[in-house]
Amino acid sequence: MSNELTAKGEDCLLQEATDKFVLKFGRQPRAAASAPGRVNLIGEHVDYCEGFVLPVALPFKTVVVGDFHNTDECNIVSVLADGQELSSSFPAPTIAELKPGPPSWINYVKGVVAHFPRTVQGFNAVVVSDVPMGSGVSSSASLEVAVFTFLEALTKHEIDLVDKALLCQKAEHEFPGVPCGVMDQYVVTLAQRHHALLIDCRSLEAVQIPMVSEDIVVLVVNSSVKHQLAGSEYPQRRAQCHAAAALLALPSLRHAAPHLLKDLEAMKCDELVLKRATHVVNEISRTEETANALRNKDFKRVGELFYQSHDSLSKLMEVSCPELDELVDILRSSAGVLGARMTGGGFGGCVVALVNKENLSGVKKKILSEYNGNPVFFECQPSDGARVISYNLQE
Ligand code: GLA
Repeated sequence: MSNELTAKGEDCLLQEATDKFVLKFGRQPRAAASAPGRVNLIGEHVDYCEGFVLPVALPFKTVVVGDFHNTDECNIVSVLADGQELSSSFPAPTIAELKPGPPSWINYVKGVVAHFPRTVQGFNAVVVSDVPMGSGVSSSASLEVAVFTFLEALTKHEIDLVDKALLCQKAEHEFPGVPCGVMDQYVVTLAQRHHALLIDCRSLEAVQIPMVSEDIVVLVVNSSVKHQLAGSEYPQRRAQCHAAAALLALPSLRHAAPHLLKDLEAMKCDELVLKRATHVVNEISRTEETANALRNKDFKRVGELFYQSHDSLSKLMEVSCPELDELVDILRSSAGVLGARMTGGGFGGCVVALVNKENLSGVKKKILSEYNGNPVFFECQPSDGARVISYNLQE
């Protein structure tokens, strides 16, 4: 198996999805949409505390094609990044209120159909994705936002972009039952090519930060350890952060000035609550500083902040794992690496690193020879957010 992962490209995914649709449903689809995966540069485990985050969209995408048909059934065929094919059906919301239920993957689709602001009639759809799953690069948000955008194309009903991100987040809370923040759905919806997106998760406003460099590459290394956010750890971190804010009588930790950490300590609060709060408060200011450094093309500083973020996620937030720590340690001792950190929810998934272009192949060689697991590399080329591909493919 190759250790390099490249995106198939939207045209290829669209062709695959269209062919599969014709094969399964015997006619051409009429609507199509796509949405990317994402990598978070910095601002980890702070979106649910109303902090700043700085993600970018990836060239890996989910494409959905389909059409209405004349029954009250929604029939979905899904082809995953590893080639596995799944299919499932559920009654359209025109005849029954949608409820979560097995198989678990269909809840991502059902949740979006249930939260779409128009009642959706029965439809057939094919989903094709090359976004790696369980790798901390938002295959779930990519699926949700792609389905939502497909429904916009199908019903010719366009929704405000931030509302769309919030509705997809709500769908994820209520159907798969993952209490995620808003970062993933937001960037997957609003990202722009060649830019990182600085999202203020309190005001829900965002600024595009240009991210082009001749000499620096953003390298992503998948540890190949699969993560699962619906487990108890993610909701626990969220609850600990909310507990810290409540002790300080604040609506969220975003409102906590650094000196308030001393107050928390003086209250003799739970040790874990204090550790989580310390991470969040410092990570929010690291994210703002990273955005400024990126604006000034000060990659050296960005790299230093990456390392600080990783150490904090590993020691204070305790969301890393031995494999991610091992990868960051190897990168730390590699020539030409400016910084590295785990990215996404943690407990597996990927590491993101800033690497001098001329050192890239040496860095990969070192990881291949020293990492105990199976590393998979891809370069993060900041891509566009979700879009309708075509309203009508058959005319
Ligand atoms: C997951 C969640 C996001 C965010 C990250 C951690 O990706 O879906 O909302 O909390 O973890 O930064």
